[in-house]
Amino acid sequence: RQMCIRDRCNIMEEVTLSPEGQAKKALYSAVQPTNALTIGNYIGAIRNMVAMQDEYNCYFAVANMHAITVRQVPAELRKNTLAVLALYMACGIDPKKCTLYVQSHVPCHAELAWVLNTFTYVGEMERMTQFKDKSAKHADNINMGLMDYPVLMAADILLYKADVVPVGIDQRQHLEITRDIATRFNNIYSPTFVVPEGVYPKVGAKIGDLLEPTKKMSKSSEIQTGTVFLSDDKDTVLRKFRRAVTDSENEIRYDPDNKPGVSNLISIYTAFTGKSIEETEREFAGVGYGDFKLAVGEAVAEKTVPLQKEQARLLADKDYLSSVLKEGAAKAYKVASSTLAKVYRKIGFYQL
Ligand code: TRP
Repeated sequence: RQMCIRDRCNIMEEVTLSPEGQAKKALYSAVQPTNALTIGNYIGAIRNMVAMQDEYNCYFAVANMHAITVRQVPAELRKNTLAVLALYMACGIDPKKCTLYVQSHVPCHAELAWVLNTFTYVGEMERMTQFKDKSAKHADNINMGLMDYPVLMAADILLYKADVVPVGIDQRQHLEITRDIATRFNNIYSPTFVVPEGVYPKVGAKIGDLLEPTKKMSKSSEIQTGTVFLSDDKDTVLRKFRRAVTDSENEIRYDPDNKPGVSNLISIYTAFTGKSIEETEREFAGVGYGDFKLAVGEAVAEKTVPLQKEQARLLADKDYLSSVLKEGAAKAYKVASSTLAKVYRKIGFYQL
């Protein structure tokens, strides 16, 4: 048992040092195990996470504690927790390189959130856009957790001393409040928390809905035929692309202002094939929209179908997934508990 803990510490040291021996920056990100992920999530977030694993000391969590702020079906929540984990691994998130874990497996999140609650004002939480939106959407269940969601998110980020937090624009306000809470605490006591930087996707990097290309492709979109899920089978993918909105010209040219539909398809094609916009325009010069849409659908399915197979293979190996989660929780706990101990000391909790 002693050996085992020491081995884990060695692993930690390896991952926190770059080849030049410099401390790597810490990166924190989390995803809720609720709705299905879209190809927009893949292009905008998951792919980047895979790329950043070597450069940063990465923490990736499945945020099941955030998920329960709106009512969940227990069996589905449980199932989706593993499904998200397996999908991330299928996409290339390597549990040996980063810390991949489930939020509820590390009790420090709830514990730090409680402390941070006493450094957060009710008025600040009432003003949060997402709280207001979700309160309107779930008017029968405006629970304290829904209001406290940003404080739990602050606890997630601050426990791991994250330098950078890549999130969607919709989470920007939550990241700003995290910075405020961290700064407030540091000013009252002494430097304790790292004040994190939010990293937001570049404008134009986002993928539009296939039917309303000027709107973001979203997992909660009303009309789901414009949204392509990573879990869609090949026929569904091809059908959705066949129906994609284009324009009345007949030219495959990248021009987001005048040709949002075609430009969105070009963006998706380049993201899934690694080809440039120019190469794509040349490849499809003189080709009709119908054939182009089919080619984009094929390129997407060529990537997503193998991901689904790998996800299914991982999900069938529960022992392996359990071992990944145990290891992840142990690595996370080591860092989180040390931050929490520091906080408890500073605020005057008597330590045993
Ligand atoms: N709230 C985020 C979302 O819905 C998920 C999340 C929870 C998160 N904790 C986090 C993201 C910490 C970044 C950092 O997308």
